[in-house]
This record gives sequence, C-alpha cells and structure tokens, in this order.
Amino acid sequence: MKRRIDLNEKDIPKQWYNIQADMPNPIPPPLNPATGQPITPDMLTPIFTMNIIEQEVSTERWIDIPEEVIEKYLIWRPTPLYRAHFLEKFLGTPARIYFKNEGVSPPGSHKPNTAIAQAYFNKVSGIKRLATETGAGQWGSALSFACNQFGIECKVYMVRISYNQKPYRRVLMETWGAKCVPSPSPDTNAGRKFFEQNPEHPGSLGIAISEAVEDGATSKDSKYSIGSVVNHVLLHQTVVGLEAYKQLDMIGEYPDILIGCAGGGSNFAGLFLPFARDKIHGKEMKIIACEPASCPTMTKGPYVYDFGDTAETTPLFAMHSLGHKFVPAPIHAGGLRYHGMSPILSRLLMDNLIEARAYGQLETFKAGITFARTEGFVPAPETNHAIACVIEEAKKSKEEGKEKVILMNWSGHGIIDLAAYDAYLSGKLEDYVLPDDEIQELIKDLGKFPKP
Ligand SMILES: Cc1ncc(COP(=O)(O)O)c(C=O)c1O
Repeated sequence: MKRRIDLNEKDIPKQWYNIQADMPNPIPPPLNPATGQPITPDMLTPIFTMNIIEQEVSTERWIDIPEEVIEKYLIWRPTPLYRAHFLEKFLGTPARIYFKNEGVSPPGSHKPNTAIAQAYFNKVSGIKRLATETGAGQWGSALSFACNQFGIECKVYMVRISYNQKPYRRVLMETWGAKCVPSPSPDTNAGRKFFEQNPEHPGSLGIAISEAVEDGATSKDSKYSIGSVVNHVLLHQTVVGLEAYKQLDMIGEYPDILIGCAGGGSNFAGLFLPFARDKIHGKEMKIIACEPASCPTMTKGPYVYDFGDTAETTPLFAMHSLGHKFVPAPIHAGGLRYHGMSPILSRLLMDNLIEARAYGQLETFKAGITFARTEGFVPAPETNHAIACVIEEAKKSKEEGKEKVILMNWSGHGIIDLAAYDAYLSGKLEDYVLPDDEIQELIKDLGKFPKP
C-alpha cells in the first residue's frame, strides 16, 4: 500500500481547467443592480485588470499558466496526495480515503494557488498595490505572501472578531510586509459608517469586502483582489484537482466520492471540477460540499440574485445566498462565514451535479481531533467540515460493506487556529443552527431582483 503519492516538479499542470466550457447550463451573467442589465466586462475595470477579467468571462476549456506563476507554484507544488490509512484503520472502514494536502504552502492553505496568479496578473498590468478582505486570515496571509513574491504592496481588511481572536494571522501578514487593519475600519466610507456606530463592531466578510472593493477601486495604482467565489479564483484552484487526478491515476484509482468544505467554494471546486467534467460526460460519482449549520448557504439559502457585499457596491450575482446583510453568530469558530456561494458551484448544485450538507461545529471539531490523533496533521477548522463528511461516508461504506474510494481536499492546517481548538477542548464551543425565521428575514428583500 502506498501511503504518499508524489508528482515530480515537471508534472505540475501547465494549464488551468475552465469548467465554463463544459457546464450543462451556463452561469447567469452578473447584473448591474441599478438597471437589472448584465454588466459588461469593461464595467469591472475599476476593480480588476483586463487580463483577470478575460479569465473571469472566458469559456476556453484550458488556460495557460504563465511560466512566472509556475516558478512560484514550485515553492510548494506539486502537493502530496496521502492515503489516510491510519484514519481508515481507526474507523474500521473498507473505504480507501485519500486527502490532497494543500496545507504545505507557506501560508498553510490552498489560497496561494490563486493569490500568486492574481499578484502576477496585476504586476504585469502595472498595478503596484492590492486591497483585499479576509475572514479568518488565511486569504489575507496568502495574498500578503504572493504580493511580497512579486514586489507589490498589500492592504488587508480583516473581519474584526477574527483580528482580535487570531493575532498570529496578522503577524504573518506583517511578516510578509502587508498592512492589516480590523474591519469595519475608519479608513473607507463603507467601514466608517459601521465603525462610528460601534468601534467594536465584530464585522463580517460582507462589510470587509465593501471596504476592500472601495479601496482597490479608488486608490492610486491599486486594484481589488478576492480569495474565493468568483470564476477566475476557481479556475486558478484547479491545479489541485488536476494534480490529484494524475496522482490517483498513477496508482490506478478513481474516486467514487469527492468531499470538500465550502466557504465561497474555491478549494472544493479546485479539487472536484476536473472530475466533474467526467461526471458531466456520464461517469458516476458523488460530489459533496460541506458547510457550517450556522452559515447554511447551500442547504438553506435560496438560489437568487444578490450582492456580493454588505454595502451593495458589487454587481448582483446568481448564487445561493443567506442575504448580503448576514452577520455570523460570534460563537462560530470554524470559518466558512460568507453569505453567498460561488456562482459556478451554485449552478452545479441547481443542476444536481453536486450535493450539499451542513455540520454543527462540535461535530466538525470532533472530526478534526480524530484526524489529528490518527493521521497526525492538525486540520484548519474549515477543513474539519470536510473531515466530518469523510467520516460519515466511511462509516456508511462500512455499514454497506462497500469499498468506496473517497477523495478529500485537505484545504489547510490549523496550527494558527489553536485558539479554536482550545475553545473546543475546554468545552467552550457550542452548536448554533441559524434559525429558519432569521433566514426568511435576511432574504425577504431579495425578491425585488430578477430571478436567475
Ligand atoms: C483552510 C481553508 N479552507 C477552506 C476555506 C474556505 O474557502 P473556499 O470555500 O474558498 O475554499 C478557507 C477560507 O478562508 C480556508 O482558509
């Protein structure tokens, strides 16, 4: 039995895979909220450079990865694929469980797969500074690392509750030369409104996005950069699935079940999209996206047009959403707090190519501890959602006596999230399920937008 399946440097993918070429139903276009009309690519130029906008709207199946991006990817890629043999043994399951370890990157997650690409495309377009938001801090640290690699400045608006709970993420960003401020901040019009009402406002990703978009669009030589949700981010993340596809092929395996956690959808999409292409062409497999019960975007949120941010500055996107005014419960420790879901993932969910499940945070941390005590690696709290599902499916495989092949994206390590583990281990975490009447209240105004 092979425990670790590695690729050579020369096997790193040279092209990203674009699912937009193969989707049975295309994603509905983003709309201008004022007119209800589709936005044209040039309307995005205040926030993104043209080379990135071209990728956002492209329907080309394969898009070349520039040499300079591959050179940076080689700092940590190709990433190892592991057989989770110790976890299998502990569960007594006939399932064969594989995990793609994206935690080996310098910031510790899958996020630099797109951060490096975005920093590069901005750099070659003459941009000198990027502004972004971050929730738990993984994305902010990934972009800080990437901007540092390409010699451009980076400013990160970090959701205040995480800024206070996770000081080491800020230190990591500063180590790579970025500036990180708690959001809502007094630095932007979008943030000032909330900051003046309450200087200790816990913040939300929606508010932090509004701040970063405003900054990126209005500051000199600057643009905005985003770590999930949109099409070009999912495109860049497909290096994960393309590598995993080759690694499984090397040992004659193919997954029956693909599992990943989903905040905005990028790590999981990066893993499953190259396999989803086979599913679209008739191959059978189960593709399961996992989310928190306290932010149940796919399992409870309707498929609607909604804003990407709280201050209503972005276009309207066709996606599963809890409403752009959603603020996560402060007791929630596990990340994955965004009110919406990637339009690509949302469309695939509507087309029944993927399914979604929600997990309570106690179950996810229990799963994370089980993983750490069998496989050794300590997973990020986000990743724990995927592990909870892997354990559920491995147990089902045992009950049914079927040898399923399970592939999971292990999206990041949790070494900088030990405060959340501490809260769990000392019994301070509790489950929280977002009540249905609260969801109804949050989405009640979305009916005024066109139906996707
Ligand atoms: C380790 C890790 N996994 C998963 C996610 C969820 O994001 P996405 O759904 O874009 O992969 C995050 C988000 O910050 C993360 O840090």
